[in-house]
Amino acid sequence: MVGSIVILTGAGVSAESGLGTFRDAGGLWTRYPLEDVATPEGYARDPGLVLEFYSARRENCRTAAPNAAHRALAELEAGWGGELLLVTQNIDDLHERAGSRRLLHMHGELMRCLCAACGHRWPSDAPMQEQDRCPACGAARVRPDVVWFGEYPYHMEEIWASLARADLFVSIGTSGNVYPAAGFVQDAARRGARTLELNLEPSEGVSDFDEARAGPASRLVPEWVAEMLGR
Ligand code: APR
Repeated sequence: MVGSIVILTGAGVSAESGLGTFRDAGGLWTRYPLEDVATPEGYARDPGLVLEFYSARRENCRTAAPNAAHRALAELEAGWGGELLLVTQNIDDLHERAGSRRLLHMHGELMRCLCAACGHRWPSDAPMQEQDRCPACGAARVRPDVVWFGEYPYHMEEIWASLARADLFVSIGTSGNVYPAAGFVQDAARRGARTLELNLEPSEGVSDFDEARAGPASRLVPEWVAEMLGR
């Protein structure tokens, strides 16, 4: 089969690179109230706390390295004869650093800034402070270019168009808690795609998948990619 593949990844694909997940034991949302650090209201209330939270995640990300799962997905993109799109919920840059190019960050990117005043976006991996100024309009309203709860994810038209054409949808390292990503499996299945979940343990939506494999992404993903590339 050389059809069209859409892959969705979540925090579980970066867990073995040392970046925290959100809802596992000890996950980020067990240590930070997400209302304070991942909502527009939290940013309006205390921008300093939000910038501190994302600056710490930038530092973690800079010191992390892609793992075997990221590398295998880049190999699949390079070796696959059909269409392939990697949609990630993650804001880290480990897929890019592993070599993935056909990649959409539907929840934005940690290593980019957004000006809350004028909408200008720019690459940045430095710590963020409240007094930072937007290079375009000069306002001190800098935030990370990430999608917070209550905000609309990026690239949705392109993602839905790819799901409509997919022959295979694979979900890797996500708990299936957050929409619209959690609904992609149904969107793809409705249009006739086969669906596969690769996750440490069965996700909330596991019953929506034709097949589910449980285990660490660093083992499951290279095994699956080897199957796909006929190795
Ligand atoms: N290998 C594979 N899967 C793993 C691993 C691993 N090594 N470690 C954890 N997992 C799985 C967990 O079993 C869980 O199902 O990864 C999933 C992580 O789930 P969450 O912490 O909910 O992360 P995610 O699904 O990416 O969250 C979605 O929620 O908070 C928002 O915007 C945030 O993008 C995030 C979205």
